[in-house]
Amino acid sequence: MMLTRNATFTLSLAFLVATGACFLGCSEKKVPEISEDSKFVDSLLATLTLEDKVGEMTQLTLGAIGTGLPSKLTEPQHLDTAKVSYALVKYRVGSILNCGNHSHSPEKWHEFINDIQTAAAKKASGIPVLYGIDAIHGPTYTQNGILGPQQIGLGATWNPEAARTAGKNTAVQVHALGIHWNFSPVLDLARDPRWPRFWETFGEDPYMVATMGRAIVDGYQNSGVPFAATLKHFFGYGFSLSGKDRTPAWIPERQLREYFLPPFQAAIEAGAMSIMINSGEINGIPVHSNKALLTDLLRDELGFEGLLVTDWEDVKYLFTRHMIAHDYKEATKMAIEAGIDMAMVPMDLEFTEHLLALVKEGTISEERINQSVRRILMMKKKLGLFESLGFPPPLTAYPGKENFEGSAARAALESITLLKNDTVNGKSVLPISGTKDVLVTGPTANSLNALNGGWTGTWQGDDPAFNTEGRPTLVEAMEMRFEANRIQHIELEMEFTENEVQRVVRSIQRRRPAHVVLGLGEMPYTEFVGNTEDIDLFENQKELVRAVHATGVPVIGVFIEGRPRVFDDIEPFLDAVVMAYLPGDYGADAIAQVLDGTYNPSGRLPFTWPRHTSAHMTYDHKHTEEIHANSSISAFDPQYEFGFGLSYSAVEYDALSTDQTEYNLDDTIEVTVELRNIGDRTSNELVAVYSQDRVASITPSVDRLRHFQRVFVGAGETVKATARIAVDELGFINRNIEYTVEPGAFGIRIGNQVVEIEVKNENK
Ligand code: BGC
Repeated sequence: MMLTRNATFTLSLAFLVATGACFLGCSEKKVPEISEDSKFVDSLLATLTLEDKVGEMTQLTLGAIGTGLPSKLTEPQHLDTAKVSYALVKYRVGSILNCGNHSHSPEKWHEFINDIQTAAAKKASGIPVLYGIDAIHGPTYTQNGILGPQQIGLGATWNPEAARTAGKNTAVQVHALGIHWNFSPVLDLARDPRWPRFWETFGEDPYMVATMGRAIVDGYQNSGVPFAATLKHFFGYGFSLSGKDRTPAWIPERQLREYFLPPFQAAIEAGAMSIMINSGEINGIPVHSNKALLTDLLRDELGFEGLLVTDWEDVKYLFTRHMIAHDYKEATKMAIEAGIDMAMVPMDLEFTEHLLALVKEGTISEERINQSVRRILMMKKKLGLFESLGFPPPLTAYPGKENFEGSAARAALESITLLKNDTVNGKSVLPISGTKDVLVTGPTANSLNALNGGWTGTWQGDDPAFNTEGRPTLVEAMEMRFEANRIQHIELEMEFTENEVQRVVRSIQRRRPAHVVLGLGEMPYTEFVGNTEDIDLFENQKELVRAVHATGVPVIGVFIEGRPRVFDDIEPFLDAVVMAYLPGDYGADAIAQVLDGTYNPSGRLPFTWPRHTSAHMTYDHKHTEEIHANSSISAFDPQYEFGFGLSYSAVEYDALSTDQTEYNLDDTIEVTVELRNIGDRTSNELVAVYSQDRVASITPSVDRLRHFQRVFVGAGETVKATARIAVDELGFINRNIEYTVEPGAFGIRIGNQVVEIEVKNENK
């Protein structure tokens, strides 16, 4: 996170090596070792032709080598032997991605991978193909794979272990298919709910995203099987002016470094093997053509040594969409000069031909090509592809789903967030008590697709034909958790009309359920398909809430959606509100366990929920966005705050203290707080520590998250929680684009408690 600090570290290390200085008891001069892998890669590289090399830098989609049209393969899907041989043998394509917009059985995946690697073995170099896929919430595109919550739900657990386990389980299942490369995690920030990829992130805060990101990368890459993570999309992708997918962002360097870079930097430090580039532009420069970001920053400054892959068709887009190149050849030159290693082309071989021509005519040096091919081969080597030749492990070793179901279900449970729980007739609406009927309706209540979101059985996640067998929808989970005959259900499609609202009302009047549970929110979408003109909750859903409220029966709104939809005008008509995000195949039962009280909700919002469609601000807004709070709706006034979430057993904070009142710049602050559970159940509390820089040379945020941890507090218990924060973490990027901690006064906040400390301009 600390740019200047790291720069200093790199410098001093270089100095030590250069001068042969010794410390910590070493006795002789150390020369950096050339690893066995490097030796292997260098000697292989020396045998490759230019054609081999540009082929390695090319990635095609499965559609381009299957029978039928690339975007619509003939069913049942098969590889087209002529296309396979043309791409993999003649053009020596080094990487394939994707799934033909289809989920496949492990047997089918093995057939694809075996055929691909058999073809690759026929080219002169024999280098195996690196296969990549978007297994973003478990083994997507795999029949009956175990799918957990999408990243936004994992964010709501505020539990890095949940992210680590999700990563590990995905790695093991996907590797068993014969696939070694995952296009995950997304380390963009969820700072604008209009952005259709909001749900693919862990949340809005850089520190929190960095912490969760590091954990999932560790899970992917240290799972016991060779498997690579991809940090995407580098960077600033989620903060475009329009809020729409792949549209221009205007982000000054200072903000890029302070907010958008830290998650990537943390995950690079955690050893992430590859990075995918943001398809959009920042400050007028498409990132795929930006050498300052892709080479100067990523390589030279951050020391990233892994593979840089483009996003989908993004070299071509430099001339077809961004209009900064005249033709494909010029676009290819730009992207290579900027620093990409592999192009996700992904339909044809024009990129490969242009690259070959550019090197042959001397526009691009072969040494530049060697740099990229070395990185690609190194990744293949680290993933063991030269040993296995890329062939999948035997099907008999395919892991049983019982190994993964428990943690997917657990992560879903931990993510569900209770946002409102009113008292009606002297009793909290939730958990649902009594033995009377419950009506479950609403457009997301009976859809497994709604629970899973995009990148599930298919890219858009909207085709029920590819859903996991036997996983329940919310209605079905309610029938299982409650006595089935207590659950009334009325089916509603997304586009339901006023007539259907009246049908629901008539049913309530006739059958008088004790509670109504409304499944609200969105149906799945991915990328540009989720662009929206308006983040207001859909009018028909609001009408349903109003009409059901008017019957006098308590209404529980369950949002199943990838981003916060604005619903302030109907919020008073919901007696309880639950946010389920996109909790995956095990999400319905998790919601039902929160509704019936089996589980005490512990999810906390990983983002700020806006109250007004045009007044969204994140929690780390500035002081000028707080003043006039009583007279202007443009002041910070969210529906629910970042980190918010209720439990069935409230916890109060008290006695916040720090171990000292004054600190030096190299000190660590020890913060302690008392958590008192005033209810009758154990609560899994989120302790989030914020700093408040009182005066700074760059306008300080009202709050900045510096630390978080989960703490279990038993019924009636008081527990002390302690956090340690280095003073060094309290800084920001200053006017000279340097990371700095400015001495002076700071507040440290946990919950409603704040203590003041002073940072001195001194080191020990
Ligand atoms: C998306 C990436 C994804 C890639 C491959 C692109 O359209 O932006 O996130 O990894 O497709 O499916």
